[in-house]
Amino acid sequence: MFPSSDKTKNVATPRICDVVWHDGEFIKWDDARVHVMSHVLHYGSSVFEGIRCYKTKRGPAIFRLREHMQRFLNSAKVYRMEHDWKIDDFCDASVELVRRSELDQCYIRPILFRSLDEERPAFGVNPFPNPLACYIGAWDWGKYLGDEAIEKGVDVCVSSWTRLTPNSLPAMAKSGANYMNSQLIKMEALVNGFAEGIALDDRGYVSEGSGENIFVVSGGIVNTPPLSSSVLPGITRDSVIQICNELGLTVKERSIQRAALYVADELFFSGTAAEITPIRSVDRINIGNGKRGEITEKIQKMFFEITSGERPAPGEWLTYVREAAKVGNNGFKAESKVGTSSAAVEPATKLHAAGIK
Ligand SMILES: Cc1ncc(COP(=O)(O)O)c(C=O)c1O
Repeated sequence: MFPSSDKTKNVATPRICDVVWHDGEFIKWDDARVHVMSHVLHYGSSVFEGIRCYKTKRGPAIFRLREHMQRFLNSAKVYRMEHDWKIDDFCDASVELVRRSELDQCYIRPILFRSLDEERPAFGVNPFPNPLACYIGAWDWGKYLGDEAIEKGVDVCVSSWTRLTPNSLPAMAKSGANYMNSQLIKMEALVNGFAEGIALDDRGYVSEGSGENIFVVSGGIVNTPPLSSSVLPGITRDSVIQICNELGLTVKERSIQRAALYVADELFFSGTAAEITPIRSVDRINIGNGKRGEITEKIQKMFFEITSGERPAPGEWLTYVREAAKVGNNGFKAESKVGTSSAAVEPATKLHAAGIK
């Protein structure tokens, strides 16, 4: 179910699901459009998610769907976006979207935003008069930081841009507006010949990449900045922490100085798009021996074994699309809900999602 060949010429990625879930029904990709005067275009009023669906022997499996949708709901709550959607609605819709896409692996993008009421248009900053619109699209997305990055690692810089402060734009909500900051970080890195930039928080401690969390391995200990360093409570970050527990590795959430990056034994990014990507240099200073480190490789290996369904996860991390309960006649409203059970949400994840750690 891919777009017709003439369209595939016009998009960067050729494998896009040609239907999009919109406010409870499936519409054609071509019909998923907004008015240029929509509030979101002018004032950045959106929240969104990024979720990977992996190819496994049992068919496509969505990674930590429920946890992503919980974060989606949390982001909406922070921005006072009041709606009637329940977590199961979004989980069911995603499963059905992947099923309809016929893709064996993909990236799922839910987005909730303030649009425009064309009968009674409102143009001010006040978002309340603008109706909410919700869409979920999907496409096949390869390796975010390049095909070689996963094995060889990437060269990055410390950004001159500071990450958002907790009381300006909260990093724990995944809002579209936050990504203007990410774009400054990313563009600066790219024009200077780096694959990615690492931002510091407003106190000067390491925060995260433009679209990834960061881990610093020193003396066998796996460190990562706390959520108070303006980091997104990453689902992959949480997965790495749990994988480290499985591997018997000590993980510490603590403030990290910029210089600690340069002298680390190993560094790596975590994120849905970037998965686990080693960092081989920062500001042209080699990290360790300038190659993927041993501990990074171990964590990466376990991560990919879990996402491919070859190794059991520490929780119910995979939602197998073909095995999930069939949905009702209207395309997605399930009588019996699909997705992982709420018991699958680890206490740690709940704390992370709540911004406590
Ligand atoms: C700014 C930022 N930090 C961290 C992450 C990693 O989060 P996750 O692992 O949930 O994808 C992302 C990706 O969504 C991101 O955009």
